[in-house]
Amino acid sequence: MSHETETPRKKVTTQTFLRMKKNGERIAMLTAYDALTAGAMDECGIHSILVGDSLGMVVLGYETTLQVTMEDMMHHCKAVARGARNPLLVGDLPFLSYQISVEDAVRNSGRMLQEGGMHAVKLEGGRERVDAIKAIVSAGIPVMGHLGLTPQSVNKFGGFGVQANTAAAAQRLLEDAQILEQAGCFGIVLESIPARLAEVVSKRLEIPTIGIGAGVGCDGQVLVTPDMLGLFSKFTPRFVKKYAALNQDMKTAFSAYLSDVKNGTFPGSEQSYEMPDPEWEETLRIIR
Ligand code: KIV
Repeated sequence: MSHETETPRKKVTTQTFLRMKKNGERIAMLTAYDALTAGAMDECGIHSILVGDSLGMVVLGYETTLQVTMEDMMHHCKAVARGARNPLLVGDLPFLSYQISVEDAVRNSGRMLQEGGMHAVKLEGGRERVDAIKAIVSAGIPVMGHLGLTPQSVNKFGGFGVQANTAAAAQRLLEDAQILEQAGCFGIVLESIPARLAEVVSKRLEIPTIGIGAGVGCDGQVLVTPDMLGLFSKFTPRFVKKYAALNQDMKTAFSAYLSDVKNGTFPGSEQSYEMPDPEWEETLRIIR
């Protein structure tokens, strides 16, 4: 397929997000951590890429997201920004990069755009984040909220289970969503909450909700890419749909390679270089 003959796709912006919600068009977001994967998503027309701090668990081998640093995020944001042209790029603010002070929150958000090449940032939490959100937005940086299961609070929740499944918690989550909208967020991730609640929240907001484990009533969906590709195999949350079985494919390929190397069946002549016979004969004569 020639890229010259393709109609150039338009860049997705935060305004596109709002327009898509108004028009009832669903938003497809995925996480990416490297240029190659981000490029493939761009070619497929994925609307938005989140460089999530899930990086810590699915790429860097940590048990939780708490160990991820700004430097880790910068490294992977830059790679994704080099790989993707059209999707809206959202950088996840890691643990302690925005909770300690509003100044930290603005400075670290600025780095995500200035150094990391992102278009927006995401942070976790509800009403307790209003001051930080307002300050970041007033610096001209779009902010995406994140409610429900917020993995940076895993120790407070005691695990990665479903959230807001009592009436009081559901009411609080709805209020938080409205507070985040008023504070200036352009969208909110809703993670691991009852589908009926997510649908009501989505209907009450002007800004789009992006669900992960929050049912089909959200305005868009996001999945952690190594989960949906069947690449991350330590555990699979109920809400993940596996679109491929790359962990199995990877092991099949590695085993086949191992046996080819052991047997001497790789490389074959088609993977090897040769020199013209006269040159080789001359080489033998010289080195003899
Ligand atoms: O870090 C991440 O990938 C996320 C998604 C689960 C929304 O926050």
